[in-house]
Amino acid sequence: MQLTVKDMTRIFSFSRTNVGSKVVLAATGAVIFLFLIGHMLGNLQIFEGPERLNAYAALLKSTGKLLWGARIMLLVAVTLHIVTAAKVTLANWRARPVGYTCKKNIETSYAARTMIITGPLVFLYVAYHLMMFTLLKTGPEYSETDVYANVVAAFKMPVISGVYIVAMLILGAHLYHGIWSMLQTVGIGNSRYRRLRRTVAPAVAIVIAAGYIAIPVAVLAGIVK
Ligand code: HEM
Repeated sequence: MQLTVKDMTRIFSFSRTNVGSKVVLAATGAVIFLFLIGHMLGNLQIFEGPERLNAYAALLKSTGKLLWGARIMLLVAVTLHIVTAAKVTLANWRARPVGYTCKKNIETSYAARTMIITGPLVFLYVAYHLMMFTLLKTGPEYSETDVYANVVAAFKMPVISGVYIVAMLILGAHLYHGIWSMLQTVGIGNSRYRRLRRTVAPAVAIVIAAGYIAIPVAVLAGIVK
């Protein structure tokens, strides 16, 4: 199928509507979500020892153009996600410049109301994380080939492990509401599926947060060394 200029204009106009913004948030959220699952499964290979994790890191690097393609896709998804979330939040604030005198939160949760705080915090965490392991290599140790040693040296420091654990809990809260919203956007929002959403959203968020948290905890406990 070939997209014409007219089709592109229609897609662009749709993305600027409220429903369009929700779809953009859900679609970009899904790309980020897939990355999070892949990155978690990759990282969990640390439990199988240095050879396994380092071989996995080397394999990723050897894919060259494929890796860069995935990185660019992720960067585009993250940028669109942030810009759209900021736009929706600003529009909501503009629609109600004076707060409610008596506000009762009915179909919402603490995680939903704090998306605009947990989102930027996750972003700050990612910036810190990339500076440590990828961009500035500011971690306590840095070897191009020994990713295992880099991770263990970093997490041996309780402050770094602490920052990661707190960040993963914040990420879990963001994911909880994000998955919930995404399921609603794709049509699993009516009362028939409400129960399913109530189970799936927290369960997936907990599995992802716990999967990542297991690594600093295992290093601090001396299980991974
Ligand atoms: C225990 C938790 C985590 C560990 C041990 C970990 C480990 C790593 C390591 C070692 C790298 C560098 C790989 C290399 O270039 O050799 C990396 C890259 C990266 N991590 Fe994590 N990570 C964790 C959690 C996360 C989370 C929660 C996010 C996102 C919210 C994230 C986002 C990224 C991104 C975007 C990259 C760059 C990927 C690339 O260069 O292609 N990481 N991580």
